[in-house]
Amino acid sequence: MKDQSLKYFEKIRERYAADRPRSAAMFAEAVKYLPGGDTRTATFYLPYASFMARGEGAYMYDVDGHKLLDFQGNYTSLIHGHAHPETVAAVQEQIAKGSAYAAPFELQWKLGELLVGRYPALDLVRFCNSGTEATMHAVRAARAFTGKDKVIKTEGGYHGTTDIFEASVDPDISEAGPLDDIRVIPESRGVSVNALKDVLVVPFNDIENTLKVIEANASEVACMIIEPVMGSAGQITPDPEWLNAIREMTAARGVLLIFDEVVTGRLTTGGAHKYYGIMPDLISLGKIIGGGIPVGAFGGRRDIMDIYDPRLGQMYHSGTFNGNAITMAAGYATMKAYDEAAADYVNELGARFRDGLLSIYKDLSIDMKVSGVGSIYNTLFTNKEVRNYRDVAAAHEELNKILFLDLVTRGVFNAERGMFAMTTAMTTDDVDFGLEMVRASLKEMLPIIAIEAPELV
Ligand SMILES: Cc1ncc(COP(=O)(O)O)c(C=O)c1O
Repeated sequence: MKDQSLKYFEKIRERYAADRPRSAAMFAEAVKYLPGGDTRTATFYLPYASFMARGEGAYMYDVDGHKLLDFQGNYTSLIHGHAHPETVAAVQEQIAKGSAYAAPFELQWKLGELLVGRYPALDLVRFCNSGTEATMHAVRAARAFTGKDKVIKTEGGYHGTTDIFEASVDPDISEAGPLDDIRVIPESRGVSVNALKDVLVVPFNDIENTLKVIEANASEVACMIIEPVMGSAGQITPDPEWLNAIREMTAARGVLLIFDEVVTGRLTTGGAHKYYGIMPDLISLGKIIGGGIPVGAFGGRRDIMDIYDPRLGQMYHSGTFNGNAITMAAGYATMKAYDEAAADYVNELGARFRDGLLSIYKDLSIDMKVSGVGSIYNTLFTNKEVRNYRDVAAAHEELNKILFLDLVTRGVFNAERGMFAMTTAMTTDDVDFGLEMVRASLKEMLPIIAIEAPELV
């Protein structure tokens, strides 16, 4: 960023900090015990994050007395907002009866029945404790079923934090090679280089270069995994032709297709595969299906998932908290309430938000984009069409960070990367308030946008 922009950002940080002495004091304590004062890198921002006191419905309340309209919803996991009354009641009722049993119980198969009834790709499902575990197990199932080891993922695709998925998530484009020969780049220090030897990376929405990799490596590839809408990369939507092409080619070459629906599971009551009309072999789920409590799930074709049936004795899958009673109670109450009408409602709020953003861009004469579909969108400081990770990487990401912190000072909380997710707890007035604040923020940022991204104004 140029000097003037850094000064502008610094001024926002000063305004932010001046109004948050309690968060500052808590941060000073927290760094004594937690590296960086937090326990999750994605929630860290400078000068220090606002510490939250509680959440209710569409709003969070920080320890300094600010009320924040929450467009982040714990990274899209809170489909009904905070402390959804039916979910709270279900958890309270369950916790008095115990939290976990090391034995099966009714709510597990009840939530299983609900998910299998809704997601077309699910014949059988297993629960775990995070989206990370869900994708890890989906890949393991694919390896066990096919007897092959390699995995194809997309550049920019995020599937959690296991080694093979910490590959080319947010790579430096100057090091990533050409689209027809993408280099696999470890996302973090400590990721096993040996594990990455099993990973092949393809460009999202690029039929030719994706099919080439599948064809050339099919004899060694167990599965291809995609986020049907690439979320953390910037809500990049898929071309239906690309989805169709990878479905046909993977099926023809004995490669299983996994849709990571950890985020997109909310796009319809049957996720993104129902929305786009594509049937993957396996899916992973997480976020909303646990009603705000840690969760993951994976499942799919009966002939694949049957390997987990201990009566057949093939696959071990355990976990102390798999299918624990609190998650099952919260998940069941939440998902029961996330019916067709609820899904339509959040998607309508999403459309209102997207259209509102487009009007703001037009009124302020900023030539920028909004990506996304359904109830999740992303502001992007670029005027180019966004079709893959590299298009987002070429946008001015730092401007989204300025927008984020400025919005916090105006009572709106989204994600630093520019994501806004709707919840059923929001009203149209809430969405309009959020838009009003985005308008005010962008209007003030115009001189900075002109410096950092002159092509947009
Ligand atoms: C598409 C996708 N898959 C997997 C994960 C990992 O889920 P978790 O954070 O619950 O491990 C995420 C998390 O954001 C995700 O967005």
